Amino acid sequence: MSRLYSRIVGTGRCVPEKILTNADLEKMVDTTDEWIRTRTGIHQRHIAGPHETTSSLALGAARQAMQAAGVSASDIDFVVVGTTTPDLVFPNVATQVSAALGIEDRPAFSLETACSSFMYSLSIADKFVRCGEAQCALVIGADTLSRIVDWSDRNTCVLFADGAGAVILKPSSEPGILTTHISADGQYKDLLYFPMGVSSGWDRLRAGDAAAIQMRGNEVFKVAVKTLSALAEQTLEKAGLSKQDLDWLVPHQANLRIIDAVARKLDLPMEKVVVTIQDFGNTSSAAVPMALDVAIRDGRMRPGQLALLEAFGGGFTWGSALVRL
Ligand code: ACO
Repeated sequence: MSRLYSRIVGTGRCVPEKILTNADLEKMVDTTDEWIRTRTGIHQRHIAGPHETTSSLALGAARQAMQAAGVSASDIDFVVVGTTTPDLVFPNVATQVSAALGIEDRPAFSLETACSSFMYSLSIADKFVRCGEAQCALVIGADTLSRIVDWSDRNTCVLFADGAGAVILKPSSEPGILTTHISADGQYKDLLYFPMGVSSGWDRLRAGDAAAIQMRGNEVFKVAVKTLSALAEQTLEKAGLSKQDLDWLVPHQANLRIIDAVARKLDLPMEKVVVTIQDFGNTSSAAVPMALDVAIRDGRMRPGQLALLEAFGGGFTWGSALVRL
């Protein structure tokens, strides 16, 4: 078989059991259901319990995607997990997922570019499949941002949530992933970051200091709209296609107003945009693969259609993929 493309042959998702509604948040911080709905589009989100972790959610999504693709653990020869909230510093989440699935002696690594981690992972897996290094790649986006949010900060705690989404990629002579685009600009670090790490902040870590996501929401909003709109145009241009060719936009689910603004800039009616933020909030790396899975499973997205996947995250980092389903 001539190996020109990688193709998504199965998708899956997994969210924690616990649902936190806007009404629940009204009891925790000075906010209202009305403010959250109108300013963000979020109605509810899923939050990990003490026994749920990024790797357990990633595993749940992987199992669903494998079932949808009709592949078993012995078929998978490449595992990558996009995440910013790994269970441990090491071993990485992909090795934990591999071990739980019984995948042995295969590459397994995690990749951290905040909310665009899945898009970066997909872009890299696509290259491995296309060049023949991988025959069946498991690509996951998983995060538990609820663990690094300050639950008394109304500016951030109403936005972030937990989940995982996964896809299986296989080589194909038929068009699948047409092109991917990844990029970054580190000058925006101070607009969105987590102030404690290992190499930096280790003294605070040892002292047991609490830390939480820091975000200048309004400024992030503006760069996100500009970057995601330009990214869509660049990706289509790279593939020699135009926005009229698109059947679906599967955008990062950070704020309905960002999604709406990007769709308007692209002249795309909202019927062509997959929106899941109302049910899941911003699940970071998981947002795009979860939205893709929702729209494939509910029958909206059909084989042969053209979808543009794109995400934007802290760093800033951003990434996209133009996909023939
Ligand atoms: N409930 C009620 N009022 C609130 C809340 C809340 N939950 N949060 C903020 N407010 C208040 C503010 O205090 C402010 O009050 P003030 O005017 O008295 O000072 C007012 O609402 C307006 O605040 P803004 O920040 O200007 O509100 P904005 O319309 O910009 O919405 C939001 C804030 C939702 C954060 C928006 O800016 C946003 O979504 N930004 C992008 C965030 C994003 O995409 N982040 C993730 C990127 S992905 C990643 O890497 C994790």
